[in-house]
Amino acid sequence: MSATWTKAGWRAKPRIQMPDYVNAEALAEVEGKLATYPPLVFAGEARALRAKLAKVANGEAFLLQGGDCAEAFGQFTADQIRDTYRVLLQMAMVLTFGAKLPVVKVSRMAGQFAKPRSAPTEVKNGVELPSYRGDIINDIDFTPEARIPDPNRMLQAYTQSAGTLNLLRAFSQGGFADMHRVHEWTLGFAGGEEAAEYRDMANRISEALSFMEAAGVNSGNTDALGRVDFYTSHEALLLEYEEALARVDSTSGQVVAGSGHMIWIGDRTRQPDGAHVEFCRGVINPIGLKCGPSLEPDELIDLIDRLNPNNDAGRLTLIARFGAGKVGEHLPALIRAVEREGRKVVWSCDPMHGNTIKSASGYKTRPFDAVLTEVREFFEIHKAEGTYAGGVHFEMTGQDVTECTGGVRAVTDEDLSDRYHTACDPRLNASQSLELAFLVAHELENAPRADRVAV
Ligand code: PEP
Ligand code: CO
Repeated sequence: MSATWTKAGWRAKPRIQMPDYVNAEALAEVEGKLATYPPLVFAGEARALRAKLAKVANGEAFLLQGGDCAEAFGQFTADQIRDTYRVLLQMAMVLTFGAKLPVVKVSRMAGQFAKPRSAPTEVKNGVELPSYRGDIINDIDFTPEARIPDPNRMLQAYTQSAGTLNLLRAFSQGGFADMHRVHEWTLGFAGGEEAAEYRDMANRISEALSFMEAAGVNSGNTDALGRVDFYTSHEALLLEYEEALARVDSTSGQVVAGSGHMIWIGDRTRQPDGAHVEFCRGVINPIGLKCGPSLEPDELIDLIDRLNPNNDAGRLTLIARFGAGKVGEHLPALIRAVEREGRKVVWSCDPMHGNTIKSASGYKTRPFDAVLTEVREFFEIHKAEGTYAGGVHFEMTGQDVTECTGGVRAVTDEDLSDRYHTACDPRLNASQSLELAFLVAHELENAPRADRVAV
C-alpha cells in the first residue's frame, strides 16, 4: 500500500470502465501532446481547496458541489457556463445566508467528460452498439463509427475545459460574482415560489450590505464581497488523460492532477486494488469517493487507509449515494466505522445517482421528491449519529430543462420530452436546484455544528 507511487503505476492494476483504444500510436501521440500542455490548475489551488475542505470536515463550512452529469462538445457556449455558474452562486448564497456558514463552491465543470456505464453495450431497435462513454471517449450518435473510442477527443476535452475554466475564473474574479449583484442573478427565472423566496432573501442581503456600507464596515474588505473562490471537479475515470495532465509541483516535489482542482472516484471504479484508486492515492488534490450500497464498512476503512494514510482533514470527501429509503440501511454503519477509527472525512450527499428510474414515457429520470427525501435522510442520520453532514453533490444545469420530474413548477412524465438535453443522466433545472438549496439551508439550520458536534 505504501509502495512507491508513480503516475503511471495505475497501468499495472486491473482497470474497468476505460476504453480499449485500437490505435496505440494515435493514443501515444495525444498523451505526448497533453503531457507538454499547461496544466489547467496548479498545486497551490488544490492545496487551498484542501484547506477549505478541512474546515468542512471540522463542521465549520459546507460543501456545495454540482454541475453537469456529462459535459458535451455540442453544448459548449458561454451562456451554458454562465447559467450553471449563476445557479450555483444562487444556491451558495441561499446556503450561506440561511445556514450562516461559509460555502465551499465546487463545480462539476471544466473536465466532467468521461462516464462509467452500467452496461458495455446499448440496444436500440434490435441494433447493439458499444455504449456511449462521454464525449472525451466516443460520440453519442448511434452508429458503429461514432462509438469507436478516439484518443483525439481528449484534446478537444482539454480545450473545452481550458475555455470553461477561463470563463469561470473571469466570472469569479471579474465582478460577476459581486454580492451586490445578488438581485441580478435572479434574471434567469420568471415567477414561482422558490424565485419569490430567493428575491426576499436577496432583499435582505442588499439591506445588510447597505447597512454595512453606511456604517463603513466593509470599506477595507470589498474583495470578500466582490469575488468568490470557485473550484472545478470531475470523475477521474479516463486515466490516460489524468496521467498526461499530472504535474510535479516545483515548490513541493509532490504530484498534482492538473486536470481539475478536485477529482473523485466513481462508485463503479473504487476497487481498493484497482487502477483508479492507485492513481488517485498519489496526487495531492482533494479526492472524492462515491459510496454506494455495495460498500462495506471494512472496505471503506481500507480505501481510507490507501487514499488518506496521514488522516488529513480535507483530503477525502465521502459522497454517499444510496437512494431514497436506503440511506438508513447503509450510512450509519459507514459513519460508525469512520468514527471508531477516528478518520477525518467530509461527508457529502449525492441524492441523484441512487434515484434514477425509467419513466413511463421511456426517459431516464429522477423524481425530485426522492432527491429531497434522500437529502433529508442524510441529514437525519448524521444528526442521530452526532456527526456533521458536510455537503451536497448533485447534477444540475442553469438551463430550463425537463429531465427530473416534480418540483414546485412540477415537471410531469409527459413534460420530459419537451426539453430533455442531457448527454447522460437527468439533471435538476434552475428552479429545482434552488428549491433544493432552500431545503438544505433549512436542514443545516437545525443540524449539529462545529460547536455542537461531538469530538
Ligand atoms: C456520476 O457522478 O456521474 C456518477 C456516475 O456517479 P456514481 O459513480 O456515484 O454512480
Ligand atoms: Co451522473
